[in-house]
Parts: sequence; C-alpha cells; structure tokens
Amino acid sequence: MDAESLQTEALGAILGAHTLAELDEVRVRFLGRSSQLKLALREVRDRETGQRLNGVREHLETAVAERQAILERANLDHSLTTESVDVTLPGTPIPRGHLHLITQIRRQVEDVFLGLGYEIFDGPEIDDRWHNFTALNTPDWHPSTSPNDTFYLADDDNLLLRTQTSPGQIRFMETHEPPVYMVSLGRCYRRDTPDPTHTPFFHQVECLAVDRGITLADLKGTIQHLARELYGPEREVRIRTSYFPFTEPSIEADVTCYLCGGAGCRVCGDSGWIEMGGAGVVDPNVFQHVGYDPEEVSGFAFGFGLERMAMLRHGLPDIRALWENDLRLLRQF
Ligand code: PHE
Repeated sequence: MDAESLQTEALGAILGAHTLAELDEVRVRFLGRSSQLKLALREVRDRETGQRLNGVREHLETAVAERQAILERANLDHSLTTESVDVTLPGTPIPRGHLHLITQIRRQVEDVFLGLGYEIFDGPEIDDRWHNFTALNTPDWHPSTSPNDTFYLADDDNLLLRTQTSPGQIRFMETHEPPVYMVSLGRCYRRDTPDPTHTPFFHQVECLAVDRGITLADLKGTIQHLARELYGPEREVRIRTSYFPFTEPSIEADVTCYLCGGAGCRVCGDSGWIEMGGAGVVDPNVFQHVGYDPEEVSGFAFGFGLERMAMLRHGLPDIRALWENDLRLLRQF
C-alpha cells in the first residue's frame, strides 16, 4: 500500500465533503475498521512502517475533526439566518384545568385542621359491621344497618361500603392512645336514589377530639372556626338538638348564611341559616368499645358533607352537577 497516495486521496475526499453525512462516509471509508489503512496497520511487522502508517492515521483524524468543526459551524450559521422566531407574536394558549371542586374543599378543610394541630387519618372505604355500626353504638336492629340503606358486599353481610366516615373514629382510637385530634376525609356510600340533594356516594369530613375535659363548648368553637375559614370571618354558628347513636348529647350545627349574612335569601331558603351537619359529645359506650376510660377522657366528633360545602360555596343547585363533568359548568370555577 502506498501510504502517501492514500493520504492525498483521503485528504481530497475530506475537503470535498460538504455535509456532515458525507464527511462521516469519508471517515468510515478511510479510517473505519475495515479501511485499507486499518487493515494495513494490523499487519505491520516493522517499527518504521508502523510509525509511518500511524502518522498518516493521526493526520487524517485531525483533518476530519477540523472539517467537522467547519461544517457544524456552517450548519449553525445557516439555521441562525434562515430560522427566525418572532418572540413578539402571541403564543399558543395552553388551557389549564383545575382541581375538582370536591378536591379543592377537601384540601382546604385539611389545611384548616392541620393549622389546629390535628392529624389526618385515612380509613378504608370497605369496612366491617363492627367499625361502621356496632362499635359506634349502633345495634344490629337499627334501621340504618338495613340493606335498604347500606351496600353490603355480595355474599358477606359483615363487609360493607362505609355509610359514614365515623368508623374512622373507631379505627383511629383502636390504634392511638388519647389525647386524640384527628380528621378523616373520604368517600361514603348509601343506597340513595339520585336527586338534587342525594347521590349514592358522597364525601364527609370526620373530626374527633378526645382529651381530658373536652366539652360541647370546644365542639362549638371548632365548628365556628371551620365555618369562618370556609365562609368568612363574620359567620356565626348555632346548635340544635339531634340524635346519633354514638354521641350524647347529639347536635346539628348551622352557620349564618354566607350570602345574606342571616337576613334570608335563596341560598338559605329564607331562614338565614345553613346546615353544616351532625355532631356531638362522644358517647361513653364508644369509648368502652375502644378501651378508653370515659371517667378519664371526654371528646367531641362531627361529620359534615363536603358536597354540601362545595355546593354552597359555588351556588350549585344540584349535587349531581358535581359528578356529571359538564365542562361548561366546571370551567366557571
Ligand atoms: N356520621 C354522622 C352522619 O353521617 C355524622 C356525625 C359524625 C354525627 C360524628 C355525630 C358525630 O350523619
């Protein structure tokens, strides 16, 4: 092989390459694994030939690198002069979604209670009779346990879709010693026919506080704080007597209407008050079921519906609007 004429030929080809692709072909032809030069290098027996061929190789490699730099630079210049972007043109708007209205309320309620030092607890949506009813002082004959109201799992009348977040109270107390300050938010299920105020599933926020010396006044103050965070600092809370198997006394809490401030309007049905939901002082029987001493501690609990909060907040007349995913409606919020 005549190293000199090979070198001349290769240099000509390198300089003659006008694109990076062409240059790459030339590199493979003259410097690739099966190029004449590489094959010759492999067979070298004497030092002098080896040095000469390696000299040629280095020379060609440098020439390829230089040519490559020139071609890359030319590519860049080309795109800089031909492809221009007018940054003053309006961009393509990217439509942004938002969190579901229930998720928004849920996070806001969580924030309020985290701010008060409460712990957030997640209970299972499929629970058993004990946690959903029995330990909550609700005997088997109670109408709410009927399959007309409660979804039981097929072939198992012990497992059910929780009808309330209150079983979270039991699960939390079973695994924690007092003092307890917990909230539990999530989905609940009841055998209801959908109408403007009912769906077979809905969300609740459950709150439970157990400590020495907790009273109804603490319950009222906590509800008032939540109402003011959600509906504004002017809100007042009133309580009415009610009944739940797991609280004694039981109450229903109302808040002054956020729209009319209590004067009466369409949102509050002219009463000036909006219902928040059920609450009460924890029944001693419930404490006994989880091994707490009712002589030592007392507590309060409430369970409010998140759908109702979202509907009030956004003036939705029908609970089903939250689940129909009508974008014309959802985009307004
Ligand atoms: N679990 C009750 C319901 O679903 C609400 C409630 C919770 C009442 C806690 C009292 C205490 O109606």
